Amino acid sequence: MTTVTIMPSGSKIEATAGASLLSLILASDERIQHNCDGKATCGTCHIFVLEGRKGVSKIAREENEKLDAVVGVGSKSRLACQAFFLGTEDVTVEVLSFR
Ligand code: FES
Repeated sequence: MTTVTIMPSGSKIEATAGASLLSLILASDERIQHNCDGKATCGTCHIFVLEGRKGVSKIAREENEKLDAVVGVGSKSRLACQAFFLGTEDVTVEVLSFR
């Protein structure tokens, strides 16, 4: 079983392939903003994938376009609602927003 580690708390959740990082973060009782509930329109679920980027689905055009409008975006940026866990390796993410 592969795991997702959520920073800054360091909590870990065992995960199976196919779930969005947003759903995994919420299932772990971590808090993260998700104002559009996963429609890739708000950008509030912006996270950094610190490790295991190959264990997450590739960025689609809709996500890429939204990230272009988000402040503080870097090479590790993803929208948690649009990034799906592949289950091929452990992943570490950093949650940037709290609700
Ligand atoms: S929840 Fe709005 S972009 Fe992810």
